[in-house]
Amino acid sequence: MYRVPKQPSTKPGFLLVLLLVAGCAGGPPDTPPVEERVVIAHRGASGYLPEHTIAAKAMAYAQGADFIEQDLVMTKDDELVVLHDLDLDSVSNVSTLFPGRARDDGRHYVVDFTLEEIRQLAVSERFKVEDGSAITVSPDRFPLGKSTFRVHTFAEEIELIKGLNKSTGKTVGLYPEIKDPAFHRREGKDISAAVLDVLASYGYSKSTDDIYLQCFDRYELMRIHEDLLPARNMELALVQLIGAEADFAPLLTEEGIREISGYAAGIGPSMHHLVDPDSTASDLKVTGLVALAHAAGLKVHPYTFRREPDQIPAYATDFENLLDIFFNQVGVDGIFTDFPDRAVSFIEADK
Ligand code: G3P
Ligand code: CA
Repeated sequence: MYRVPKQPSTKPGFLLVLLLVAGCAGGPPDTPPVEERVVIAHRGASGYLPEHTIAAKAMAYAQGADFIEQDLVMTKDDELVVLHDLDLDSVSNVSTLFPGRARDDGRHYVVDFTLEEIRQLAVSERFKVEDGSAITVSPDRFPLGKSTFRVHTFAEEIELIKGLNKSTGKTVGLYPEIKDPAFHRREGKDISAAVLDVLASYGYSKSTDDIYLQCFDRYELMRIHEDLLPARNMELALVQLIGAEADFAPLLTEEGIREISGYAAGIGPSMHHLVDPDSTASDLKVTGLVALAHAAGLKVHPYTFRREPDQIPAYATDFENLLDIFFNQVGVDGIFTDFPDRAVSFIEADK
């Protein structure tokens, strides 16, 4: 058994970007008004129910999240499904139900299955296989093999959220992520165009609509901004995700941030891009990234905030202290979290 995976490795990628950002750092970042802070339910209320299930999304909604995240992947028959991975192996019984359908690397790719096939799968908490047995990645989360969960489409999730908005009178937003557009292109699929078409069909078309559209691939975001959105008379707010890899380092300079502000409304860095993970409680090393982003007019929504003790950096005492550091000292505009209830409670208490 092992615990929830740590945040991405801090070295050498983070060391490099921290140095670059530190070189551009100005004064302390401004802290946005408490009323404007947003809680983004990362894969739903995934700390309590299997990620990206309809149950996890409904729970996130009920817990008061401002936005609910959808990671999006395409099926063989061009349907958009809400899943984090390009393959089905870590959250479903695909290898049991569809023997002989793996690629040479042993993985069962979403893009090789029709929606009708994928709907047959039982979805569970994330697991790994050891000595032929499935072992949960998160021992304190929802148990493996209990209850019944399925994969659903992007359209079905939009209908859930819009339906709840109607029945509750609230305005919870979407936060879809286009997963690996280059992979999909190699498979002959334009996932970004498909995502925009579904959004347009549900009335999401303006930058003021309750939606942020995110992607790690900057060239794809530029294409969306320059070609795909104008072609559809759409103007959605885009978010540039920033990963730990060294090739993201140029984005973390003043010039890189200025470039992002030309096509996006915000950035989604790891929390380690904002606070050096080698910080201590008495020596918090805040990078200059929030200040740079705010100066360029960009929102900052870091990922991923989890309450499990092994997910709390050494400089924080617990989950709420971590939230306090990021909202009140680092000055972020919102956070991705597996525990939206805890973040919502923290913000309410801070008002
Ligand atoms: O999209 C923000 C955050 O979710 C990025 O990481 O791997 O969980 O999609 P990941
Ligand atoms: Ca994501």
